[in-house]
Amino acid sequence: MRIVLVGPPGAGKGTQAAFLAKNLSIPHISTGDLFRANISKKTELGKLAKSYMDKGELVPDEVTIAMAKDRMDQPDAVDGFLLDGFPRNVSQAEALDVTLQDAGMKLDAVLDLEVPEEEVVKRIAGRRICRNDSAHVFHVTYKQPKAEGVCDVCGGELYQRDDDSEETVRKRLEVYHTQTEPIIDYYKAQGLVVTISALGKVEEVTTRAMEALKRDE
Ligand code: AP5
Ligand code: ZN
Repeated sequence: MRIVLVGPPGAGKGTQAAFLAKNLSIPHISTGDLFRANISKKTELGKLAKSYMDKGELVPDEVTIAMAKDRMDQPDAVDGFLLDGFPRNVSQAEALDVTLQDAGMKLDAVLDLEVPEEEVVKRIAGRRICRNDSAHVFHVTYKQPKAEGVCDVCGGELYQRDDDSEETVRKRLEVYHTQTEPIIDYYKAQGLVVTISALGKVEEVTTRAMEALKRDE
């Protein structure tokens, strides 16, 4: 299956993507995680991406699309993938369509996670992620690690993302409404959108998502 996951910052895209990718046996491709990996390796791409991410703005399309295409070309993504955080505006969605069409492929579904803004703010404020692997995500109240500040999975140090400050989150939400939300209409026109509520326990949301994807088959 080829799926796009869309939703505001802090909706739980990364959290859900980890379970959905496992259940569906497809790789989880997060452009945010790819940028963060480049930042920690101090690559040129990482330096460029950080200058935009710290302000809550989108990284320019040219580099983002090239990076996403490169990842989708890896052997593990031949039979499907779950995209998280890409596409993030209409021009990225158009570029993805062209890439897939050229390869004789198409998307199966766009899963839209709906969460009220006040919940998103709470989720982001309490989020802690692992220095070793940004897929290891915790929350100070909703998903507490067994030992404070230590990752349950690998023992790595937990930290708060630089772009999770109140001011940057406000900017990221504004960017989501103005630039990312229009892709939902873009994909609605293709009949691809399934919307679910992302409120409730993580497992409940995963079950809801799996059912919505099945119904959509
Ligand atoms: P990115 O990393 O994609 O961030 P985002 O979209 O803002 O989303 P988040 O990672 O903040 O949230 P999430 O929905 O994954 O939530 P999570 O599962 O962690 O992008 C960051 C930046 O990179 C962008 O601002 C931009 O600069 C750049 N970028 C990335 N892609 C780009 C692109 N395509 N083009 C241009 N620029 C790009 O959950 C949040 C918290 O809530 C966690 O603590 C979790 O434990 C908790 N939680 C999750 N689910 C639940 C639940 N059901 N109940 C209670 N708590 C929950
Ligand atoms: Zn870890």
